[in-house]
Amino acid sequence: MIDRCGRNIDYLRISVTDRCNLRCIYCMPEEGVQHVSRSLILQEEEILRICQVMAELGIRKIKLTGGEPLVRSGMPQLVEKLKNMTGIEKVTLTTNGVLLKEQMKDFARAGLDGLNISLDTLDEACSRRITRRDELDRTLEGISEALKYPEISLKINCVPLGIPEQDLCEVAFLARDHKVHVRFIEMMPIGMGKEFHGVSEVELLRILGEKLPRFSPYVGEPLGNGPCHYYDVDGFSGKIGFISAVSHKFCGECNRIRLTSQGFLKTCLQYAAGRDLREVIRSGGSDEVLKAVILEALAEKPDGHAFGGSLEKQKEDKTEKLCMAQIGG
Ligand code: GTP
Ligand code: 5AD
Ligand code: SF4
Repeated sequence: MIDRCGRNIDYLRISVTDRCNLRCIYCMPEEGVQHVSRSLILQEEEILRICQVMAELGIRKIKLTGGEPLVRSGMPQLVEKLKNMTGIEKVTLTTNGVLLKEQMKDFARAGLDGLNISLDTLDEACSRRITRRDELDRTLEGISEALKYPEISLKINCVPLGIPEQDLCEVAFLARDHKVHVRFIEMMPIGMGKEFHGVSEVELLRILGEKLPRFSPYVGEPLGNGPCHYYDVDGFSGKIGFISAVSHKFCGECNRIRLTSQGFLKTCLQYAAGRDLREVIRSGGSDEVLKAVILEALAEKPDGHAFGGSLEKQKEDKTEKLCMAQIGG
C-alpha cells in the first residue's frame, strides 16, 4: 500500500488489549485505563480477518502489542495463525515481560520472529517508582528465558525519564553481556507522556558516552521494522539503539498503521484520524468493503506528527486524547 506521500505501508501494529499489569507513570494513570466491555474488543477471528485483508493489500509485518498483550490469553496461538497467513512474513511482540517466562516456549514453537521487552531500570526501587508495581524480578526472568531462544531477535526498550535513580548505563550494559539490542526511546508527548520531558538523544549519547566504549553508527541490514537507528559499541554483543521521535522526526519513512483493541484503524500515532473497522465487520461488510475503508483511511494518513513546542501547547492541542496503552505504542 502506497500512501499519498509515497510511503510504502507494510507494517501493522495491533493492540490486542488496553489493559496492563503495570502502571508506568508516563503511560497509564494509577487507576488504569477505563474498563471496556469484552464485547467491544476485537475477537481473535475478527483480528485474523482484518489481517488477511491487510495482507492482501500489502501488509507483510505484524506487531502484537497492548497495553500488555500477554494479559490476553491465546497469544501464542494468534502468533501461529498469523505466521501461517499467506503474505505475512514477520510477526513480532512487544511486552513488559512479566508474564513471558511461562509462555516463551509456546511463542518459540509458534514461530515468533522478534520480541521487544520494556525495561526502564534494573533497580528495584526505581522500577517500583516507574511502574507503580513490584514486578521487576518477573520481567528479568522473562528476559532470561527469552535469551534461551537465539532464533528470536530480542530487544530491550528503555524510556529515560531524566530522574537520577534511573541508571541508563546499567541498562545499556545488558547489550554488552548478552545478545540483546538495547534501545532508548525519547519520551513522546502522548497521553501521560505529556507530563514528562524525557531525555533527548544528544543528551543520552553524552550520558552513555561517559561509561560506554566507543560508538559508531551501525550500517548493516535493518534490525527490525520500526524507526530505531543503531550503533555498534566496541566489545558489545548487541547494539545500542535510539528511537528519537522528538529530536529526529522519522515520519518521512513511516511504514506503519495501527489497529486498536477495539478495531479502530489509526493511521498516525499522534492523530485521532482513521476508520472504525469493527463497525464495518459487525455490520456485515464484505472483504471488498473492508479493503475500500482501509484505503480510504490510508488516503488521509497525516504527513507526520507535530511533537515539540511547549508542554502547554501539547496539552491544549486537538490531537489524540487516548493514552499510549490504548493506542499500542
Ligand atoms: P522493531 O524495530 O521491529 O523491533 O519494532 P518497533 O520499534 O517498531 O516496536 P516497539 O513496539 O518496540 O516500539 C518501540 C517504540 O517505537 C515505541 O515507543 C513506539 O511507540 C515507537 N514507535 C513505533 N512506531 C512509531 C511511529 O510511527 N511513530 C512514533 N513517533 N513512534 C513510534
Ligand atoms: N513515549 C515513548 N515511549 C513510550 N512507551 C509508552 N509510552 C511512551 C511515551 N509516552 C513505550 C513503552 C514500550 C513501548 C511500546 O512504548 O515503554 O516499551
Ligand atoms: Fe503497561 Fe507498557 Fe504502559 Fe508500562 S508502558 S503501563 S508496561 S502498557
